[in-house]
Amino acid sequence: MAEKLDPWKSTEVKDYKRIMTDFGIDDMGKLVEQLPIKNNYFSRGTIFGHKDFKVILDAIKNKKPFALLTGLMPSGKFHLGHKIIADLMVYFQKLGADCYICVADIESYLTRGISLEEGRKIAIEEYLLNYIALGLNPKKTKFYFQSEGSKDYTNLSRFVAGKTTFNELKSVYGDLTPQKIVSSFVQFADILHPQLKENGGPKPVVVPVGVDQLPHINLCRDVAFRMKENKFVMPSAVFTKLAPGLKGVETKMSSSNPETAIFLTDDEKTVENKIKRYAFSGGQMSLEEHRKKGGNPDVDVSFQYLKIFFEHDDKKLEKIYNDYKSGKLLTSELKQMLIDKINKFLKEHKLNREKAKKLVNKFIKN
Ligand code: TRP
Repeated sequence: MAEKLDPWKSTEVKDYKRIMTDFGIDDMGKLVEQLPIKNNYFSRGTIFGHKDFKVILDAIKNKKPFALLTGLMPSGKFHLGHKIIADLMVYFQKLGADCYICVADIESYLTRGISLEEGRKIAIEEYLLNYIALGLNPKKTKFYFQSEGSKDYTNLSRFVAGKTTFNELKSVYGDLTPQKIVSSFVQFADILHPQLKENGGPKPVVVPVGVDQLPHINLCRDVAFRMKENKFVMPSAVFTKLAPGLKGVETKMSSSNPETAIFLTDDEKTVENKIKRYAFSGGQMSLEEHRKKGGNPDVDVSFQYLKIFFEHDDKKLEKIYNDYKSGKLLTSELKQMLIDKINKFLKEHKLNREKAKKLVNKFIKN
């Protein structure tokens, strides 16, 4: 049985290799080396696969226009998992991308019952402020709400309906509801509209997303291909692994459960408590045993957070890995390293978020 991916359920993925074969995702392989600026999400496997990423690399290399589009679901608080996509936006902007950020307020209204006003507030206070604080450049960003798109964008979200069938939707999404159908059509318009005339016409677009969004990407690419009259370039995608929750590498970080997540607004004490109490340890039960047998960094959440987010230096990371594995480094020491790193980052981030408040109206017109 193929592993099912449901973009509307909290998915936990056990086997990424399997997903790649079942859904036709390509390995990043040697493409990583072609990136003009090193990026640890790529080089350490947080981005585990892609579709047509070569098209984007060619645009970068030849200094041709390309765009990045991604969407955010305005519900809940901004956590480390969300930071991955935000950092990628900033990264691709540096490589020349025009950035389109969609607030999926229609989707969160339809599938989560969040009003447009509430969605707007969450999108700005939780997401946009953090994006700006993480370095998003207003000059190269279009931040928009699904409920307020242009006429051509809105029409696109309807016209895509003519390029699929009910049976196809059922086979891609499994359980269907009218709400899900509308949400996915709007999402196709999101992904394709950077290529509309009003946005400069057809061009490569990269969509960085969590792997749970894969069904949307696949069907949207097919729909793009079938809309011959628009001459769309089939959108590219890079897929990120889902950020592990505090309680284990195979669990998911989720806004609705604070015990699984580090929020970018957590204070020092909260971070310390969360890591000490909840961060799953790959260490041994007793100190003697740990010294003798060593720990397992591959399942240790603290190590994984250092690897994904906080230890940028490859040499230092390798040393931590080896020291933990040999038993030289204890779980308590590893946790303290992580706590210090997170709190240092959050302290600075807090200041940046204060500064960001002044920049919000550069991103939103009214
Ligand atoms: N469905 C996405 C989510 O659940 C949000 C989204 C809307 C999106 N439009 C998009 C993501 C376009 C990527 C591209 O988070």
